[in-house]
Amino acid sequence: MEKGTTLTRFIIEQHRDRPDLEFTELLTELSLAGKIIAREVNKAGLAVTMGLTGRTNVHGEEVQKLDDFANTTILKTTDHTGHLAGMASEEMEDIYHIPDKHPRGDYILVFDPVDGSSNIDVNVSIGTIFSIYRRQSSGSHATLEDFLRQGREQVCAGYIIYGSSTMLVYTSGLGVHGFTLDPTLGEFLLSQEDIAIPRRGRYYSANESNYPAWEPGVRRYIDHLRQPDAATGRPYSSRYIGSLVADFHRNLLKGGIFLYPGDTKSPQGKLRLIYEASPLAFIIEQAGGRASTGRQPILEIQPEALHQRVPLIIGSPDDVLEAEGFIQGSSVP
Ligand code: AHG
Ligand code: MN
Ligand code: MN
Repeated sequence: MEKGTTLTRFIIEQHRDRPDLEFTELLTELSLAGKIIAREVNKAGLAVTMGLTGRTNVHGEEVQKLDDFANTTILKTTDHTGHLAGMASEEMEDIYHIPDKHPRGDYILVFDPVDGSSNIDVNVSIGTIFSIYRRQSSGSHATLEDFLRQGREQVCAGYIIYGSSTMLVYTSGLGVHGFTLDPTLGEFLLSQEDIAIPRRGRYYSANESNYPAWEPGVRRYIDHLRQPDAATGRPYSSRYIGSLVADFHRNLLKGGIFLYPGDTKSPQGKLRLIYEASPLAFIIEQAGGRASTGRQPILEIQPEALHQRVPLIIGSPDDVLEAEGFIQGSSVP
């Protein structure tokens, strides 16, 4: 479809002959939540939503006011659509039941309302990550089992990145498509249709302060990237923003690899499976990329807990395959 097509029209046309994907309103309401959050983010230090709430979340992390604001905004803009039977988020310990005054529907929504929270008050790109599954239970409300699903069962996944521009990138299994918010119109307009990640990149993203605690195969892989490449005579460049969505988005467009491995302190790493790793893994596979723990595809992991963490290696397929070779011990330089 031509550049400038609105998100709503794109979804309607893309899902026209897909009656199994009838969550158009849900996606457009999510884009409204993105616009509301973007407005707060763009007011930066002036907004009352900056700073800490003084509370910690289920992960023991300090909750930023914007985390709370974004969480509430997404709940409020989507809980009345009649598409959802329940929701879960990084900022809520348990699943959220749709209030009885609203009709319930066939889907569940999971989300990370603000990803990269440590970057909120220093004006660095942050994001929102979301993912939609068809519910399996049949009662009046969704059950925990509806949320503990393999990533392969997602029907839709996406993110909104609040950067130099606000972009919404999503897939419903029919390719990956990018929309840029035109603030003068208040509309997300198609800017990149059918995004495909380069097979190999020139960037790697990792918090190298954890290097001493990584397993040997990960350390050998990073050492390998730091050596001049036979083809180019140059090593990979390190790019680490500290917002997963921003690092992911750059690698999606330019090629590269993001690693948040497990380490001796936290063997499962830091990132959460259900609302960080799985949605981005669905997107990257739809864009021709790859996502694994280093040993197992992210989309094949059966979650056992809502907030479980997982090591994440995601990006260009040739880069991730090479990393897996080092981690599994089959590639020794
Ligand atoms: P969140 O703000 O949702 O907790 O996510 C932060 C994550 C992710 O965005 C980023 O890649 C990672 O934390 C950075 O962690 P380190 O500061 O340990 O590198
Ligand atoms: Mn996050
Ligand atoms: Mn978050």
